[in-house]
Amino acid sequence: MPYKIINDDCLNVLEGQSIKEKINLTFLDPPFNQQKEYAYHDDNMSEKDYWLMMMRVCESVFRLTEKGGSIYFMQREKNAEFVLKCLRDSGWTLQNLIIWKKKTSAVPVAGKYGKHYQMIAYSTKGEKAGTFHRLRINPPLPPNYRFQRENGVFVTDVWDDIRELTSGYFAGDEAVRTEKGERFHKQQSPLALLLRIILTSTKLGDWVPDPFAGTGTTLCAASQLQRNSVGIEIDPANADLIKKRLANIREADLIQKYYKDYLCTENLPEIWGENLETAPRVRSLQALPLFEN
Ligand SMILES: C[S@@+](CC[C@H](N)C(=O)[O-])C[C@H]1O[C@@H](n2cnc3c(N)ncnc32)[C@H](O)[C@@H]1O
Repeated sequence: MPYKIINDDCLNVLEGQSIKEKINLTFLDPPFNQQKEYAYHDDNMSEKDYWLMMMRVCESVFRLTEKGGSIYFMQREKNAEFVLKCLRDSGWTLQNLIIWKKKTSAVPVAGKYGKHYQMIAYSTKGEKAGTFHRLRINPPLPPNYRFQRENGVFVTDVWDDIRELTSGYFAGDEAVRTEKGERFHKQQSPLALLLRIILTSTKLGDWVPDPFAGTGTTLCAASQLQRNSVGIEIDPANADLIKKRLANIREADLIQKYYKDYLCTENLPEIWGENLETAPRVRSLQALPLFEN
């Protein structure tokens, strides 16, 4: 499916004239302004400047989105009040505050509860979503349940079944690595997260931009699901990585392994838009190094 990779500041692109298509879904996973190292971004902005920037992003995405389109804005839970204000002031209607509960142990914090989740604010342009597929999953039954479920359960606003890519080798094959085996990008999102978001909020052929594309996880999921995507990334090394990641889909990036998780969903083949025959062929069964020395 067509995808575009743009190496630029997302504000230049979103506030310029280059996006001609009407957007259906945007995933926002910006740097969280928590003093992390980014080659092309200052992650230590004043709170005022940071939220002014995010306000401009949300406003321009809103302008470019078709009625009923969606935005998923991922952030630290401590920024909840700013995220909600930013979305509301730029015209979005909040639908859910999704709790993405981490699989690894909570991060202990002195004087308050340990941190165990990331928030994702899901909002729409207008009161109702134009597309919202109610996905069904079939997680393991809690202990003491007497009856098997007949047809799984609807996905709720608590997502505790998607594993984050943790640091170092625990991140497994999905983490894109350099030749030395180090993670290429510490904030790479799991494919399963984008798969759920795209399956829920888009149809085949819809347009899905990611203004802070990083390693291109959104494009990787969208292109396999036959949705169009645009990744905007300020760091040329990341933009180059996205090109390589998409040109050579690794086994760890194939989405087909998640199909069974959604089998209880009505019309799944139609929503997924793919079957095993049309799945992209794996060029190698090993995780290919994306970079050469
Ligand atoms: C948290 S990461 C996104 C990770 C992504 N979700 C993934 O799966 O790889 C944020 C990315 O935004 C990029 N970035 C920061 N400021 C930007 C800007 N103004 N325009 C475009 N990209 C930007 C950073 O270089 C970084 O790669």
